[in-house]
Amino acid sequence: MLSGVGRMRFASFVALALLAAGWGSMTPGAQGEGEPAGQQEAVEEGKLLYGIYCQSCHGSQGRGDGPMARTMQPRPNDLTVLSRDNGGKFPLARVLLSIDGRSRVPGHRKGHMPIWGLSLQEADADINQEDEVRDKIENLIEYLKSIQSK
Ligand code: HEC
Repeated sequence: MLSGVGRMRFASFVALALLAAGWGSMTPGAQGEGEPAGQQEAVEEGKLLYGIYCQSCHGSQGRGDGPMARTMQPRPNDLTVLSRDNGGKFPLARVLLSIDGRSRVPGHRKGHMPIWGLSLQEADADINQEDEVRDKIENLIEYLKSIQSK
């Protein structure tokens, strides 16, 4: 489990991630305007990471139908309907916590999602890798935003 310090660092990581420049599109009306430079690169990078880490369960198009999904209970989510099922708004905080996996998401089933906050770190690198992990998760989220069905 996380130590007190770890928990605090994680909380500030979430707060920072929510505040970070790229999340401007959460503001109603801001969609499409003034998107930060590098947005497209973030989506591309996220797509690459998705293909490596997520596709086997969530499927090549994110529809929850990857080769590993058939035998799983609960089934991996259809990741293209996250916004639709949340009243048209991308559920950023929940998705962030689900992917990181180190905090339990209230009301979330205990399932088979790997704990990416840990798995995206290199096991034998004895350095703090929180920044790198945050970048990867942010890019993954930019990709997920880009595949939401309208
Ligand atoms: C081993 C299979 C597996 C892999 C690999 C996997 N997932 Fe999942 N994922 C699941 C399952 C099963 C669920 C549904 C229930 C749960 O939380 O366990 C889920 C749930 C989710 C949710 C929660 C959706 C919601 O409505 O809250 C998100 C977001 C998600 N996955 C994103 C990802 C991303 C991004 C990756 C790659 C970094 C990934 N998953 C890799 C199995 C997987």
